[in-house]
Amino acid sequence: MKSEERIRLKRNKVLVVGLGEVGLALFGLLRDCGKFDVYAVDTDKNKAHLIDREVPREVNIMHVCIPCVEEEKFTDAVVDCVTRFNPQLVIVNSTVPPGTTMHVYSRCRCLVAHSPVRGVHKTPEYMRREIMRWTKYVGGANARSGRAACLHFEKAGLKTQLLRTCTDTELAKLFETTYRAWMIVCFQEMHRISRHFKANFDEIVDFLEDTHRTRLDRPIMFPDVIGGHCLIPNIRLLLKAYNSDLLRLALKSNKKRTIEVKVRAIKNETDKIRRRAAVVEKDLTDGDLTRRNLATRSKNQPTAFISPKQS
Ligand SMILES: NC(=O)c1ccc[n+]([C@@H]2O[C@H](COP(=O)([O-])OP(=O)(O)OC[C@H]3O[C@@H](n4cnc5c(N)ncnc54)[C@H](O)[C@@H]3O)[C@@H](O)[C@H]2O)c1
Repeated sequence: MKSEERIRLKRNKVLVVGLGEVGLALFGLLRDCGKFDVYAVDTDKNKAHLIDREVPREVNIMHVCIPCVEEEKFTDAVVDCVTRFNPQLVIVNSTVPPGTTMHVYSRCRCLVAHSPVRGVHKTPEYMRREIMRWTKYVGGANARSGRAACLHFEKAGLKTQLLRTCTDTELAKLFETTYRAWMIVCFQEMHRISRHFKANFDEIVDFLEDTHRTRLDRPIMFPDVIGGHCLIPNIRLLLKAYNSDLLRLALKSNKKRTIEVKVRAIKNETDKIRRRAAVVEKDLTDGDLTRRNLATRSKNQPTAFISPKQS
């Protein structure tokens, strides 16, 4: 039997590596769908209480949910787990630089695919709903790997979309967060220029907002420091793989902002735009406009309103 068929038909043993914000949510989702025997490992001893069963010497599918800071160390950690648990299919859910999934594949004798995670972590339950909500994009190291990973996610009740290669999904995830960071950086710089000319930034943004409410092509961001553990770390990951002035500029602007927002007036102006951005986003996601656009809505809707959070 081909490995894709085995993935579809068998009650597979599934291992989740890394029980953090993503791994814990995925673990619960896979276990509760009742279609697999699900196990987990984590290097953090404090998470031992979350792991209620001993992992068998061999599993069929291994989900990787550990952070990637340096590509080489990440690949070593994944290869180490493949050696220990001998899976037929590895699915890298982590955000990784382009080329990482292929490197894992070149060092393991099994199917390997990449499938990035989207969503915001508020609680494990919320993250789980986020994983269910978004279409799971999959890119295989080869065609068989991609198909096998899609079959597995579909068995768990998720919608899937297979891209041509794993490099496509790796870049798609990095661009998804970097795009948002660039928009915020653009607002940081417009705020600086406005202050230089002693202009009223809130009124200027009102003008941009007015355009956006009709054209939907100029989102209002707020010019605060970009925090959190996604946007800036993902820019750093991409920068290590590709030498880009625009990426460097984003980091430079954000660093400058950390000092600028210590000035009370700058912070107050930033907060004013934050409130404005929240109203615009709520209006456009909940309001009439969204209902009128029902026909063209993405396959990931309905979208609950998530207050703007720049992380
Ligand atoms: N948290 C989010 O909201 C979110 C959203 C989208 C994508 N992601 C991506 O998902 C990946 C995982 O992120 P996270 O937020 O769940 O990370 P996390 O830091 O919350 O959890 C990672 C877990 O992996 C464990 N771990 C690390 N190395 C290990 C190893 N070699 N073997 C076993 N366990 C190991 C850690 O102890 C930790 O428990 C990252 O690539 C991140 O960029 C996260």
